[in-house]
Amino acid sequence: MRVLSGIQPTGRFHWGNYFGAIRQYIALQDNEQAFYFIADLHALTTIREPDKLAGFTRDAALDLLALGLDPTKATLFRQSDVPEICELMWLLMTVTQHSLLEKCHAYKDKVAKGLAADAGLFTYPVLMAADILLYDSDIVPVGQDQVQHIEVTRDIAQRFNAIFGGEFLHLPEARVLDSSAKVLGLDGEKMSKSYGNTIEIFEDARPLRKKIMSIKTDSTPVEAPKNPDTCTVFTLYKLFATPEQQGELAGKYRRGGMGYGEAKQALYDAAWAYFEEARVRRQQWASQPEALENVLKAGAAKARAKGREVLQRVREACGIGRRLV
Ligand code: TRP
Repeated sequence: MRVLSGIQPTGRFHWGNYFGAIRQYIALQDNEQAFYFIADLHALTTIREPDKLAGFTRDAALDLLALGLDPTKATLFRQSDVPEICELMWLLMTVTQHSLLEKCHAYKDKVAKGLAADAGLFTYPVLMAADILLYDSDIVPVGQDQVQHIEVTRDIAQRFNAIFGGEFLHLPEARVLDSSAKVLGLDGEKMSKSYGNTIEIFEDARPLRKKIMSIKTDSTPVEAPKNPDTCTVFTLYKLFATPEQQGELAGKYRRGGMGYGEAKQALYDAAWAYFEEARVRRQQWASQPEALENVLKAGAAKARAKGREVLQRVREACGIGRRLV
């Protein structure tokens, strides 16, 4: 089975990204043939500062490797290092109905938020279809918000196959990520960049502590018993702590006599320890930019080898590039 997914480099990854997606991608690398890429071409629809885009792309690669993506198991690459994607995108565009793209929620949401309705934003799902179809991907792990784009990908593939009369494109399936691991943000709402309530995975110690201390709690006095199950701090603590540690802190909540500051400190300690190994690994990769670049180049070479094969099949299907003699 080929598993494929892309991550947009639009900012530093936060706890929500890790528990909601990245951790699950990494778990799949052990049993499946995994292709993961950093979707810098997609990010270009929202980031128009070159240094920022390049920086986030590098950070995304560093974060993924630090968090356990193993380049000897999974293939990690930069989307823009695979030019075949753009050629396939054009071939797919010629069979994509305008009305199909008009229905996409992600597009409508972004335009409603004030982003310019340019062709890049509108045809974003076709680029995504090319990302997926280029490698005959079987399974695409994505968040619920991206499921419609996988449906669009299937529609485009089916239409291409119907028009040109053959099974040229392999239909992928979405695998919706387990969202029970929904992570709460500083304000108790779902952690999300667009709410400005995130805690970044590789935040430095001091700002991390400051952020954790700013998590919203109720005004129960120190002496009074507290309910861990309705507390954002405790809910976050559970992500990082062993069942024993959880039981211990829950006991302190229920007995009373513990202020939220103490719970926040416990959360800070647990989160810091949880990403300790990853922080060390990140520093190692960051100090070897050449090795990092080589990982991405080798990943792209592997992806392109498969991509060229599929692209050739698709070109032939529509009569593009046929020899004259
Ligand atoms: N659109 C996806 C997101 O914002 C990122 C993405 C780009 C992607 N191409 C993909 C995801 C292909 C899965 C497969 O999350």
